[in-house]
Amino acid sequence: MKLDSSVRWEPGASDLTGTNVAIIGGTGGLGRAFARSLAARGASVLVVGRTFRDADVPGIRFQQADLNLMREAERVAAELPAETLDVVVFTTGIMAATSRQQTDEGIERDTAVSYLSRYVILRSIAGRLRNGTRVFIMGMPGMGQTGSYDDLNAERSYKSMAVHSNTVAANEALVLDAAEHYPGLRVFGLNPGIVKTAIRGNMLGEGSWRQKVLEGLIGLFTPSADTYAARVVPLLTSPDLVRYTGVMFNRKAQAILPSPGLTQQHVDGFMTASAALAAKVS
Ligand SMILES: NC(=O)c1ccc[n+]([C@@H]2O[C@H](COP(=O)([O-])OP(=O)(O)OC[C@H]3O[C@@H](n4cnc5c(N)ncnc54)[C@H](OP(=O)(O)O)[C@@H]3O)[C@@H](O)[C@H]2O)c1
Repeated sequence: MKLDSSVRWEPGASDLTGTNVAIIGGTGGLGRAFARSLAARGASVLVVGRTFRDADVPGIRFQQADLNLMREAERVAAELPAETLDVVVFTTGIMAATSRQQTDEGIERDTAVSYLSRYVILRSIAGRLRNGTRVFIMGMPGMGQTGSYDDLNAERSYKSMAVHSNTVAANEALVLDAAEHYPGLRVFGLNPGIVKTAIRGNMLGEGSWRQKVLEGLIGLFTPSADTYAARVVPLLTSPDLVRYTGVMFNRKAQAILPSPGLTQQHVDGFMTASAALAAKVS
């Protein structure tokens, strides 16, 4: 992961009163840490997820959705107050299980939750977002993962790490494609590094001893979700970001270069495959 030294930014205002933020996946893990930090600075935050854990926090409101399903992604998009949003953050995610899981709509589950629902929501709201709205897409950009779009739904073969790697590449491709196709928006990728959260539950078994041991170890050696949020929340509203789009940021909120293998042709391949997969269930 190489730093992009051409990008410089100063923190946004500490008082975010009047700033409207939507976090798709803001009910848990890193999205939740963002939501709580933003609300503590006075922002009005709408979190989308399955389970609301912050009903007692002033400034955070909840929209329930199961983003395994693209019809739910379409509903969320239609109901989001897109015209009023200053910042949209995508943090929904799981990790592919050891055997292929399929949603009721026939989509491989990691692909559906961690990527395709984001693609569907962004495509649907982009035209309603105001010029200058910032969109942050979390994944693992800049790590050189290029994936493969030939079998995006993992129907011909299934390997959990290959499928998850495809969601990583597809999300980075989504940043690059959206930066090009929506010039009025400012679109960015976020790579948080490894952080103790619930993300590995689907792969290791929800609540299993393997999940507990691994997350315990990760918690000992890596910064917490709150530490990551403290580094990145000032970036979300930085006045300097009006000058940039399509930039990726690492766990320290430093700009990094995109993965070299994500050529225009590769990005287009992912977008064509995504449109075809989304159309299958619409
Ligand atoms: N943590 C890491 O080490 C790490 C490393 C690299 C990249 N990332 C990326 O960071 C992002 C956030 O992950 P995280 O670590 O914060 O994971 P997390 O703690 O598991 O949180 C995931 C979020 O996604 C939501 N979600 C999961 N399934 C959903 C569904 N079917 N419908 C609606 N919402 C659903 C969860 O909501 P509910 O709890 O309400 O279901 C939660 O808000 C992901 O893109 C992940 O790939 C994380």
